[in-house]
Amino acid sequence: MLAAVLLPATSADASASLRTHAASRGKFIGAALATGPLANETSYRNIAAGEFNQVTAENAMKWDATEPSQGQFNFSGADAIVNFATQNNMQVHGHTLVWHSQTPSWVQNLGAGAMRTAMQNHISQVVGHYANNPAVVSWDVVNEVFDDSGNLRTSFWYNTLGQSYIADAFRAARAADPDARLCINDYNTEGINAKSTAIYNLVASLRQQGVPVDCVGFQSHLAIQYGFPNDFQQNLQRFAALGVQVRITELDVRMVMPRDATKDATQATYYRNVVNACLAVTACAGVTIWGFTDKYSWVPDTFSGQGAALIYNESYQQKPSYTAVHDALAGGSTTDPTPPTTPGTPSASGVTSNSATLTWTASTDSGGSGLAGYDVYREQGTTDQLLGQSTTSSIALTGLSPSTQYQVYVRARDGAGNVSANSALGTFTTTTGPGGGGCTATGTVQTQWATGYVVQPVTVTNTGTAGISGWTVTFTLPAGHTLTGSWNASLTVSGQTVTAKNLSYNGTLAPNASTTFGFQVSRPSGNTQTPSGYTCA
Ligand code: XIL
Repeated sequence: MLAAVLLPATSADASASLRTHAASRGKFIGAALATGPLANETSYRNIAAGEFNQVTAENAMKWDATEPSQGQFNFSGADAIVNFATQNNMQVHGHTLVWHSQTPSWVQNLGAGAMRTAMQNHISQVVGHYANNPAVVSWDVVNEVFDDSGNLRTSFWYNTLGQSYIADAFRAARAADPDARLCINDYNTEGINAKSTAIYNLVASLRQQGVPVDCVGFQSHLAIQYGFPNDFQQNLQRFAALGVQVRITELDVRMVMPRDATKDATQATYYRNVVNACLAVTACAGVTIWGFTDKYSWVPDTFSGQGAALIYNESYQQKPSYTAVHDALAGGSTTDPTPPTTPGTPSASGVTSNSATLTWTASTDSGGSGLAGYDVYREQGTTDQLLGQSTTSSIALTGLSPSTQYQVYVRARDGAGNVSANSALGTFTTTTGPGGGGCTATGTVQTQWATGYVVQPVTVTNTGTAGISGWTVTFTLPAGHTLTGSWNASLTVSGQTVTAKNLSYNGTLAPNASTTFGFQVSRPSGNTQTPSGYTCA
């Protein structure tokens, strides 16, 4: 025990494999593997085992593979992957138990009672099959349960069972393997947006009810033509604050073909940013890439005209994106103790009543891990507020208050997590808004049943000509109705009057901008009323 304290800290050799560097940072680096090439190609096996210490089955653990007909379980493909992982000292993430896709029609055609039983049995058998296998440490229990607007996806699961299938799935998985880490997984949730907020609210509420959700997966199927979600790290951090593990589950970065050096360089930056975001968040367990060679990638089959999304080309040669992942993982060893140079003074342009653009002279980083990005802070007394993060030497600030002086400074970060000194202060004052504040709220009943209903969305719109930094919506519940849940706003009830206030992430609305929240109510059976008349202030 004491001997360990006396050993020098291991610092990974600069040319070492991805998995060596990842392990020295306390993270995993993984790949999704397919059974065909795993059985047939030596290069595929060698790279998979040599570079990665974590595996997700790309398809072999999905329902259509493991239980193609009811009660007939087939673990041949799944076992091949798990055995390979065991032989090569890799951990396995089980993917996936309950999903609307790649699930046989026999499941989809069941009635509610039979479907719930089939779901619980499937989870119990599949998770149970690996419960005593130390390689299999975690599961995607539910996958892609939200649509892009942040509403629960109206899949056959939801349409037949209602939202309770989600909690039931987690409970069944916990019962089948009390030691496995249980995750909810989705895509387009990397930045802070309606969909990631919906998952955030669901996870918070499930955990409050004692439903065993341990982890949130961010698929991260990115594309260079859509831009990098600069608030990725902040988003991971807000989930971490809920007490869950976070993980990057299916990273790839596609491009419109053909490939060229410029696109490769942009792609490499995206890979580096994702790895750095995970490294910066203690609760992030690691990063799984959705494959590793462009020879086998789902991208060209799924996104017409796009491809080259992975870190090895079709001939198993490393691409610039491999180097980016490697160097980001290597960055935190003692090889880069040098912080970036101090950024220039931020200078403001395009200042309006609620927005401004800041630009500064870029920092350089000589330590080897490379410049990772900038943090922009507002100086205001004891705690400075992080206004935003940028990977370039400029940032567009929105949601500012009118007629307000802002004193701002910038700090640079490198890939090893070293932070520069603060820049000198830049100062600007937002213009006076033309006035005419105001907001409106309208509610839509999304679904109702005899004893309750869901109002989603309540759309809050800033109808004024200046930005607002907070809103309060009030409405009245009909007699006998009681609020049972809400999301994207903080709701308090006094008598039958409900007051909904914005949360920290959706209070700021530029003129004409909207945000939404929702709530659920139970009512006496036979009563068909729903609230009307939402007022906003
Ligand atoms: C994809 C596989 O890569 C393909 O081979 C298959 O044909 C379809 O599914 N989100 C997920 C993954 O959770 O399971 C999907 O994998 C990609 C999107």
